[in-house]
Amino acid sequence: MKLAILGGGGFRTPVIYRAIASGATRTRYDELALYDVDSGRLDRIEAVLRGIDATEGTSVRHRSTTRLEEAIEGADVVYCAIRVGGLAARFVDETVPIELGAIGQETAGAGGLAFAMRTVPAITAIAETVRRCAPNAFFINFTNPVGLVTEALSPILGERLVGICDAPQELCGRVAAALGRDARDLAFDYFGINHLGWVRGVLDGNRDLLPGLLEDDERLGSIEEGRLFGTEWIRSVGMVPNEYLFYYYFQDRALEAMRGGVVRASYLREQQDRFYAGDGTPAASLALWQETLTERESSYMEEAWIGRETERAAVVEGRLPGGYGGLALGLVDALLGEGETSVRILNVPNRSSLPFLDPDAIVEVPCLVGPGGIRPIAIGSVPIDAAGLILRVRAAERVAIEAALSGSRRLAVKALALHPLVPSVDVAERIVDGYVARDPILAETLR
Ligand code: G6P
Ligand code: MN
Repeated sequence: MKLAILGGGGFRTPVIYRAIASGATRTRYDELALYDVDSGRLDRIEAVLRGIDATEGTSVRHRSTTRLEEAIEGADVVYCAIRVGGLAARFVDETVPIELGAIGQETAGAGGLAFAMRTVPAITAIAETVRRCAPNAFFINFTNPVGLVTEALSPILGERLVGICDAPQELCGRVAAALGRDARDLAFDYFGINHLGWVRGVLDGNRDLLPGLLEDDERLGSIEEGRLFGTEWIRSVGMVPNEYLFYYYFQDRALEAMRGGVVRASYLREQQDRFYAGDGTPAASLALWQETLTERESSYMEEAWIGRETERAAVVEGRLPGGYGGLALGLVDALLGEGETSVRILNVPNRSSLPFLDPDAIVEVPCLVGPGGIRPIAIGSVPIDAAGLILRVRAAERVAIEAALSGSRRLAVKALALHPLVPSVDVAERIVDGYVARDPILAETLR
């Protein structure tokens, strides 16, 4: 079994390697190909993999390459987590809107649309290559913004494509913890699009445990979402929101923190540069990687916790170690498994799961996963406020796909202006001007 990791020089690649090498997967991989446009980054990640082998006694054949076709040729599974333009571009995505009165975030709002417009041309070219060189490979998309990017790839890759995100699974894990239960024993009625979803019910047999949890201030308040949104607001919504809803429900608070200097990309650029600039033995590289990873995870979503240090400490404490590796590999195990069907929250074509969206829209809902493929579970009608937000965001995202594919600056402005996290057409225009002035790839993309 050959696995190709596109964006293999990325910081989280060792998480996947470790899961495979330690034998945590049922699928046996005998070859890993790491592809990246940057050979320096590949070298650093290679050193970490050697560190894992040396300290944990593991060994799986792996090689790095900057040639895409070489990585993809003969692959059974393609895992794609790329960041076109790197963290320098993320910095532009996040900082330009802030001065103009809109939040600056990697995937939500203007920043997410910019990230997408930069990514779509590059990733559709990659998908064409996969279709040609590995026509039967599963394509697991982790590239953000996952919903939009997966939707752009869907016409090229069809049924072989699936988008994944760790956020829903982690949310369900925390909800289970609040209930004092094991998530594996419960069914989560979750729906939305990527980074815009809600837990509508938690089923234990024919009993829904969510209404009881919503009334229990202590339990609900004990988890990240309880602290982030406040128990009173969660009760008003009647569902537990994905943490990314913070940027919608508490837009002004997020913007204020960002204006005060909390911009994720500037922090990440500095800490990631330190890691990638380092050298040393495999053991030292592994140690530095591990330290950098822990620090990165503990400062995640910092803008939500300004002035609330105690809460923040409790939230960090309650976080599970990043589920990135297990999520993708568990999915492959389920797709290639023998007969059993499991339920996983994935990004797939809607068919008729959310009836207010068209069949080809990529939605994030629980899916049946088995050797026969992936099928979304029917969600049915949802509260109108949730449907309204989903529709507005997806409308903006679709225009961003069109803008990226056609290179139209006018459509880029339209995409931003339609997004609920951008205050007006005027602001959208100014943000697009800022992006084009400061990001060479966007300048090239939007003529
Ligand atoms: C979560 C999201 C990912 C996102 C990541 C950002 O895990 O689900 O989609 O990429 O956070 O983390 P970062 O450390 O890059 O801010
Ligand atoms: Mn995600």
